[in-house]
Amino acid sequence: MKIVLIGFMCSGKSKVGRLLAEKLNIPHFDTDEILVKKSGHSIAEIITRDGEAAFRALEKAAVNEAAAHAAGVISTGGGVPLDAGNMTALKKNAKVIWLKVSPETVLKRAGNFKSRPLIDPANPLESIKKRMEERAQAYAQAEFTVDADSDSPQAIVDKILKL
Ligand code: S3P
Repeated sequence: MKIVLIGFMCSGKSKVGRLLAEKLNIPHFDTDEILVKKSGHSIAEIITRDGEAAFRALEKAAVNEAAAHAAGVISTGGGVPLDAGNMTALKKNAKVIWLKVSPETVLKRAGNFKSRPLIDPANPLESIKKRMEERAQAYAQAEFTVDADSDSPQAIVDKILKL
């Protein structure tokens, strides 16, 4: 079984993915973790030093690596579904689930903007809303949508298992 979690930053993809994989007794892959391990740099470092396009290329390689596994839960970075090729690779033999959150929830959870260079610290809520709107169609490619605004990660795992 292969399950792919997509959604905006701070929607709980990594935490829910880890718990879900444990529950299903299958491996967990996290595209952000894979690319950080491979590059030896943090995401913020890569984006601020080399730019977003360079980051997306590393992300694509991590997506392909994760998607190549026959079974597992794959937690993706928030921008992964923007690339059609990424989604083609991820959708193969997999159920794709969108963990949907509101911009206000993202802002509440985001904490230190230094580690999130795609949020404008001068106008965080507006920049989150704008990016989220731009991505709505990409996230809507998921077969299932789960409201991830207020439930605990464990409760979200239970919702996914019911699907
Ligand atoms: C990004 C989301 C981040 C990370 C990078 C870019 C995005 O992952 O991949 O900062 O474009 O939304 P999370 O969604 O795990 O925070």
